[in-house]
Amino acid sequence: MADRPWWKEGVIYQIYPRSFADSNGDGVGDLRGIISKLDHLRGGEGSLGVDAIWLSPFYPSPMADFGYDVSDFTGVHELFGTMDDFDALVAEAHGRGMRVVIDWVPNHTSDRHPWFVASSSSRDDPKRDWYVWRDPADDGGPPNNWSSAFSAVGPAWTLDEATSQYYLHSFMAEQPDLNWDNPEVEAAMHDTLRFWLDRGVDGFRIDVAHKIGKDPELSDNPADIDESTAHEPERRHDEDWDSGHERLRSIRKLVDEYDDRMIVGEVYLLDQQTLSDYINTGDELNLAHNFVFLHQPWNASAFRDTVEQLEGLITPLAWPAWFLNNHDHSRVATRYAEAGNGAARARTAALMTLTLRGTVFLFQGEELGLEDVEVPSDQVVDVDGRDPERCPIPWEPPSAAGAGAGFSNGEPWLPMTTDAERVNARVQSEDPGSTLSFYRRLIAYRKATPALQMGSWRAVAAGDDIFAYVREAGGERLLIALNFTSEVAHLDGRPAGLDGAARAELSTDPGRDGDEILLHDIELRPDEGVVIRLP
Ligand code: GLC
Repeated sequence: MADRPWWKEGVIYQIYPRSFADSNGDGVGDLRGIISKLDHLRGGEGSLGVDAIWLSPFYPSPMADFGYDVSDFTGVHELFGTMDDFDALVAEAHGRGMRVVIDWVPNHTSDRHPWFVASSSSRDDPKRDWYVWRDPADDGGPPNNWSSAFSAVGPAWTLDEATSQYYLHSFMAEQPDLNWDNPEVEAAMHDTLRFWLDRGVDGFRIDVAHKIGKDPELSDNPADIDESTAHEPERRHDEDWDSGHERLRSIRKLVDEYDDRMIVGEVYLLDQQTLSDYINTGDELNLAHNFVFLHQPWNASAFRDTVEQLEGLITPLAWPAWFLNNHDHSRVATRYAEAGNGAARARTAALMTLTLRGTVFLFQGEELGLEDVEVPSDQVVDVDGRDPERCPIPWEPPSAAGAGAGFSNGEPWLPMTTDAERVNARVQSEDPGSTLSFYRRLIAYRKATPALQMGSWRAVAAGDDIFAYVREAGGERLLIALNFTSEVAHLDGRPAGLDGAARAELSTDPGRDGDEILLHDIELRPDEGVVIRLP
């Protein structure tokens, strides 16, 4: 086990710094706030026990996209603190045995980044070619039909009046795309990686990793693209170009000059074949976020097929990774809720994610069963409707800590959940039946169970209502059975060769832990997930 990299067994917890913990009362979370809450994550009594944190951007930024518009790749925004605070955070995390992964945003910069300021200053500026500039089409419109990932933005091009050319932005106009076809850009971005590696960070989450390779001809995208099938032959031209793989190889080589580091890519491609190309050769990304999994409906067959497909596609050089929540998507407790069962389904979803084969990414707040927060229209700040999942973490009941619920003494930048009296870390810590206590048990169990960390995975036939699989390592065999319905469901293990009596070791329903289970008729409670130790 010793030669297995830390991130393979790891549970990696995403912190969205603006919304985690605010130490200075300005309503926005900060690095000192994160330090003050590290006990929640690891090292403190009853902590979650995660292995690493991934920090969403904390760099200087005009905040058009709340930090994903970076104006200095090697600084700390004063809203979040100072470089000393960052170093202290890394030291504190390391002191608890936790790694620190940071977000790296290579596809674009802020329009206020000095590189873009220079690039847009004139057609002859030495940095002109650091971004993607083109003359207008014959009709004066944008050079091609590419559109921004944000539907509210529309075309991926904005005309710069001063120099009469359009520049490319795959996201907001405030986020011009860097020109990775220019080797100077690649070298400058490599320098930013070295800067943070030298400061001791353990890895990077690469923002839109599939977008650093684009068709240099800038050809139009096909009119109707089915995102769920392989990208050939009707492929998009604004992402997933072969050159991107080459660039990721260079990044991996650089990162591997340092010990024990890891890169995970946000590869937002809705086809697992194309996704696995980013991990299968063993010299690109260590891990890739799988959005096909995240996009499944609440349906046992849908999840089974997705996991089975990925397990069938990846090579022994690749390692799976699973997640269902991040700062860009409606939270599981809301997304999958029907008739008030969101909390139950969120637990079953967590049991699934944490018992599949692979690395797990959690998003702050999911351990509390936090739901999306309704944001009144006059408080909406995000261009793409993502405020509800970004609302601040409730740490304490408002009756004890005031309206900021221990997140802030000031006015939070996004509204606090109205459930904070019940849904908060303090109250849930003290309640063995809470979602937080469930996550703690689950993560500790995963950590203590070799079959879950590195065992094989195989699906067990279980009909349309139940997703079931066996994890096995050495002599240890576990059956995981997840009921995707809100009714009692039954599983007969005999067709899969499972018979006799076994023990339920961990259930989403704590009343069940320790029960004897008869494998010829496993009864699952509504929305229940259970881990059963097989004889
Ligand atoms: C990624 C981030 C998202 C951001 C976008 C542009 O998808 O997760 O929050 O808006 O990239 O950087």
